[in-house]
Amino acid sequence: MGTTMSQFPTVPVPVSRMKVLITRDQIARRVAEMGREITHDFEGHSLLLVGVLKGATIFLAELARSIELDATFDFFGVSSYADRTHPSGEVRLTKDVDMSLEDKTVILVEDILDTGLTMNYLKNIVLQHKPRSFKIASLLDKPSRRIQPIDADYLGFTIPNEFVVGYGLDYAEHYRNLPDICILPPDVCGAG
Ligand code: IMP
Repeated sequence: MGTTMSQFPTVPVPVSRMKVLITRDQIARRVAEMGREITHDFEGHSLLLVGVLKGATIFLAELARSIELDATFDFFGVSSYADRTHPSGEVRLTKDVDMSLEDKTVILVEDILDTGLTMNYLKNIVLQHKPRSFKIASLLDKPSRRIQPIDADYLGFTIPNEFVVGYGLDYAEHYRNLPDICILPPDVCGAG
């Protein structure tokens, strides 16, 4: 199954050279399931969904609409990749949350767990706020790349060690709006 956008004339790699790893239908089904699970687990509570900019925005938007509970949103901004495909080993906060997380039922919403550095860094910050409860929802997990241990409480898909784009995930800021999750050819990103 291909994407509907076969022509992206100005991007580093034409979308036609990419292999679809997870289709938009598979994503929609899984995200709806995750929303149902969260709704069930937090019945009677208000949630604070904290997204990680920019990759988690599309996932957060879809997940939030599948959660049948009161929910508010906030966002962290981080930069963690020195050259987009190789971790620098350093995570930097580029935007803090706007509201206090104290006594809140917080779900940190991330696009992908890779080395685990970003999520461990953010987890420490969130826990300093003393939330009532704290869970992690991640659309993707690449466990083979882990440097620091971390697990998602709600996980969409486990994927192999490939550099993926689409559904919020980027390569040099491109491809975030692809509706499917696609594999960037290794000769482009040096990953794999
Ligand atoms: P970590 O700190 O290595 O776990 O990296 C997490 C961040 O790296 C994610 O939030 C993404 O922004 C980025 N990242 C990791 N793997 C990929 C990928 O395959 N495609 C696009 N971005 C990725």
